[in-house]
Amino acid sequence: MNIIDIIENKKTGNELTKGEIEFFINGYNNGEITDYQAAALIMAICINGMTVDEISDLTIAMANSGEMLDLSDIASNTVDKHSTGGIGDKITLILMPIMASMGIPIVKMSGRGLGITGGTVDKLQSIPGYKTDIEIDEVKKNVKEIGIALISQSANLAPADKKIYALRDTIACVDSTPLIASSIMSKKIASGAQNIILDVTCGKGAFMETKSDAKTLSKVMKNIGKNAGRNVMCILTNMNEPVGYSVGNSLEVVEAVKALRGDMTEDVREIILTFGSYMLKMAGLGDDLEENEKKIVKEIESGKAYKKFVELVGKQGGDTSYIENLEKFEKAPIIVPVVSNKSGFVTDLSAELIGRASVDLGAGRLKKEDDIDPRVGIIVCKKTGDKVSKDEIMAYVHANDPKKADEAVLKVRNAYTILDKKVKKPSVILDVL
Ligand code: URA
Repeated sequence: MNIIDIIENKKTGNELTKGEIEFFINGYNNGEITDYQAAALIMAICINGMTVDEISDLTIAMANSGEMLDLSDIASNTVDKHSTGGIGDKITLILMPIMASMGIPIVKMSGRGLGITGGTVDKLQSIPGYKTDIEIDEVKKNVKEIGIALISQSANLAPADKKIYALRDTIACVDSTPLIASSIMSKKIASGAQNIILDVTCGKGAFMETKSDAKTLSKVMKNIGKNAGRNVMCILTNMNEPVGYSVGNSLEVVEAVKALRGDMTEDVREIILTFGSYMLKMAGLGDDLEENEKKIVKEIESGKAYKKFVELVGKQGGDTSYIENLEKFEKAPIIVPVVSNKSGFVTDLSAELIGRASVDLGAGRLKKEDDIDPRVGIIVCKKTGDKVSKDEIMAYVHANDPKKADEAVLKVRNAYTILDKKVKKPSVILDVL
């Protein structure tokens, strides 16, 4: 077997065998297959797609490329969560400490930013000292001691996905159903949780633009879960506009901490309560979703969820004084308001354009080795459905360079559609599958 034949096979639209998929994953993971060969095969998969069996084989091969976490000595009913990616999506930072504080042991492996979507790992790394790459023994120890670990993939869990994920980002192969499904599910399977809840984002700022594509992706991921003996549920969420009000790494950490202290936007609140109440149900901690929502609200109001986040940051080496005093986060040197040039109502705020503007400011990567600037990004003050007056501030650009700031102001203004007609605020939860 050799990689050139495998690339040729996929290029001509053939189905790859389990053996061929394992050969590729093992060879790429141990460095025998080069980046350019992997890029060619990934592009062929992106263009020609994969069958259900190929996707399952790819997922399992990636999950098996490193260690498999066994959480059975920690709890029998663990629940993990993952999002297919979005703009301003800081939900993990808020939801997981709440769930840990309510008694669900959490081991959550996240990724870095991908395409225009942000990554939880980049957000966590904007907290000075926070280590995302801790060893598996430490992950287990932390979960036993404080009930939560939020980590990256360097802990030798699904390392093949880590390599492929970074490669896809640089070769325009992000928005592919087989690649997204196998990437997410390999991480979730390797992390050991029995129950998995997936936030399948849908809209202009997501990899799946239409509800029907998001449903197809959900079906594929549920099927992989079934074959691997895991219980998977998917919730479709609206990603036409950014989640919450901040986009950019430390800006989102600040918003997440405020949310954990009880100060959150309506859309964030709806996502937290919906996902949280289903997670409690999956963990066997309450079948009544409405009751679960009330319990979550209480957990936040009591301050326990916020304390859990502070505990998590401290445990993973982060400087908790930043969380306790959010003013300590270094601000971008240039902060420019974006004002409206007319009066009316915001009928659309393009998550895609905001995501692009944020990557161009330096909050995401154009090449896989690019550094990100944790300080830069965008704060949106007006969202769909809001009234806006001429010269009123709609957003702020946080930049590290005057030219980039000027460009971002134009892009952010273009992201807004302002018309005379009033529109309703869009629903955030689109479907539960
Ligand atoms: N999140 C992942 O982990 N992988 C993807 O491919 C997309 C979102």
